[in-house]
Amino acid sequence: MDDTPAVHAHLTGTVVHGAGRGRALGFPTANLAADPGSRIPPSAIYSGWVVRHSTGVVHRGTISIGSNPTFCDTADVHVEVYCHDTSDEFYGERVGVWFVARIRATVKFASPKDLVRAARQDVLRSEALLASDHGRRVLTGALGTPGKTLSR
Ligand SMILES: Cc1cc2nc3c(=O)[nH]c(=O)nc-3n(C[C@H](O)[C@H](O)[C@H](O)COP(=O)(O)O)c2cc1C
Repeated sequence: MDDTPAVHAHLTGTVVHGAGRGRALGFPTANLAADPGSRIPPSAIYSGWVVRHSTGVVHRGTISIGSNPTFCDTADVHVEVYCHDTSDEFYGERVGVWFVARIRATVKFASPKDLVRAARQDVLRSEALLASDHGRRVLTGALGTPGKTLSR
């Protein structure tokens, strides 16, 4: 895990429509409306496992929690999940996020191009974190209930 802080958090919610910008950026995200009463981790970029309840499949993910300051001037916090291993859209579905580690702070980038460059690095970092001992331990929790399988 080197110096990357581990995160112990789990969030469940329903996938809703976002601004529709993600696909054009090359990072389509599932925007999560967290269940009422959820404790949402502080704004940042995270690695985590994404459990799609309709299929029982656990996906590898990178999660952005924040106000998307590169594009928005509002303080509204969005929870957005980018799945590394599927281009499916999850609209209306129930999804669980098992956080593994915090990757970096959210940044107001000078351009969308700079954001995309950083997001590519985030996904590489996230892959390494998911494969770490801590990542595998969190996966055991995500796979915990019968019927869950890991995405290939
Ligand atoms: C890996 C990753 C890293 C991100 N990092 C940032 C960031 O540092 N700053 C930012 O403003 N938005 C960041 N975002 C959020 C994007 O701004 C957001 O996904 C994009 O605007 C699409 O929003 P939409 O789904 O509402 O269309 C990140 C998203 C991903 C997937």
